[in-house]
Amino acid sequence: MLYDNHGREMTYLRLAVTDRCNLRCFYCMPEEGIHYLPEKQLLTWEEMLRIVQQLYLLGLRKVRITGGEPLIRQGIMEFLEELSRLEGLEVCLTSNGVLLEKHIPQLVKLGVRSINLSLDSVDRKRFHQITRRDDFDVVYSAMLRLVEADFKVKINAVVMDGKNEQDILALAQLTEQYPISVRFIEEMPFNGSGKGPAILKWDFIKIVDHLKSHFGNMLPMDLSYGETAMRYQIPGFKGDVGVIAAFSRTFCGTCNRIRLTALGEVKTCLYDDGVFDLKAFLRQGVSDEEIRQTFITLFGNRPKDGFEAEKNRKGIINESMTSIGG
Ligand code: GTP
Ligand code: 5AD
Ligand code: SF4
Repeated sequence: MLYDNHGREMTYLRLAVTDRCNLRCFYCMPEEGIHYLPEKQLLTWEEMLRIVQQLYLLGLRKVRITGGEPLIRQGIMEFLEELSRLEGLEVCLTSNGVLLEKHIPQLVKLGVRSINLSLDSVDRKRFHQITRRDDFDVVYSAMLRLVEADFKVKINAVVMDGKNEQDILALAQLTEQYPISVRFIEEMPFNGSGKGPAILKWDFIKIVDHLKSHFGNMLPMDLSYGETAMRYQIPGFKGDVGVIAAFSRTFCGTCNRIRLTALGEVKTCLYDDGVFDLKAFLRQGVSDEEIRQTFITLFGNRPKDGFEAEKNRKGIINESMTSIGG
């Protein structure tokens, strides 16, 4: 088992398989998009599979495929099929849902059961304002199809002042009818601009208070190890609501996440600026043993939380979430 220098189990890999996306969510990137990497600067599927296999030997239990939008990259379903051969490894996907619906039967077949879907609004016009694209109907329909097909569905909604605070209650209301988790996320500064939200108006306390003022007595749920969301059940509702204090960083104490960016950089924390160029290392022709040893060394020297990681950065935060993978 891989542990970090603070005794945390490193059993969960977040793998960004592309930096490209078919939406333009303004909390993630500017309208014109970001400067996408040429394909040869991305890790190949073979390289990604090799890394996952080595981490699997070190005790990896869960891999979340992210991006960008992972379903955009040619070969994704074949890659998921390769991952599904690693017995006991939970394979999860984070997607914006635009291309999801047609892949549902294949995902069921491959045993991918847990999908996190980005949906910041239940209103077509606000969805368009936030994502700068007109795909509300396909995303909403994909969400319904996932529920029908019995997936474990989590909705991610970034809460933004003046943009979608009206959606907090409406999104939470979905959990009355559907057995899903709706998670409200504090906005983070990873929007590719070098500027964060100046002041975070909607922090986790304000979001929870707002939910409580409408839904009354919400029952807090137990946290599992490594969980990012504080979750609550509204009595009588089928699903649950949660808040991810991604900016306040309250959940670092049990963080079990290894990150690999689309460029092939290892991050030991979302807030560091990339601690190792694994792609260049692989392309020097290193052995499997050296790959494993590298992870052991990197995570033996990990900051204790996101604040320390941010302090150790060489520059200000100017990355886009689309290349980090969330
Ligand atoms: P599961 O627990 O596997 O469902 O995933 P998740 O909630 O970590 O993943 P998801 O891809 O759905 O991300 C939801 C939000 O949580 C995104 O905005 C992530 O950036 C944020 N998040 C995930 N891990 C961390 C973390 O370690 N630190 C911070 N600050 N935010 C995180
Ligand atoms: N702040 C908070 N969450 C973000 N995401 C993307 N950019 C940001 C940001 N700046 C979230 C999306 C997606 C998840 C992987 O990351 O909602 O669901
Ligand atoms: Fe695409 Fe996700 Fe970024 Fe939106 S937040 S532009 S869906 S990568």
